[in-house]
Amino acid sequence: MAVLDVLPYPNPFLRRRAQPVETFDAALAEVVRDMEETMADRDGIGLAATQVGIDLRVLILDPYALEGDAGRGKPNLVIINPEVVWESAEKSVGEEGCLSFPGVFIQVERPKKVRIRARDAAGETYEIEGEGLGARAILHEIDHLEGVVMIDHVSHLTRRRALKKHQRNQKALTKESEGD
Ligand code: NI
Repeated sequence: MAVLDVLPYPNPFLRRRAQPVETFDAALAEVVRDMEETMADRDGIGLAATQVGIDLRVLILDPYALEGDAGRGKPNLVIINPEVVWESAEKSVGEEGCLSFPGVFIQVERPKKVRIRARDAAGETYEIEGEGLGARAILHEIDHLEGVVMIDHVSHLTRRRALKKHQRNQKALTKESEGD
């Protein structure tokens, strides 16, 4: 198991459309485990494979995102080759962050509810619905598999502000890692 590096924006990998998973084998299970360890290490509630430089349609979500406190301690949801089967016309605006933009939070409008079909790590098909934060988290992560990031959903001005903040944060992180 390994904690992987999360690629910060604008790494070109974050703009890629990821490839579908075709083989549900031990190598895939290891990818999922590494992603889980990485998400825990970074205190995230969702992670897409493309964010750790893996070109596969694989996401994990902390069950907290879907169930709130009732989800704490449950295994992460493994979402492979997801398709949106339905989304509500009703939208909601809420705060989003992203491990590829650490420390940046913006208000993003998304459908309030969504239903997706996906496979689990064993290749079994299932459907799941998300509402509120759950829908937001699912759609945010599915976006990553299409090369779309959260700043693509906001106005030009909000995007510019978010990018400025992101650049400042990245500079500070680079200084930190260079040591003192
Ligand atoms: Ni993200």
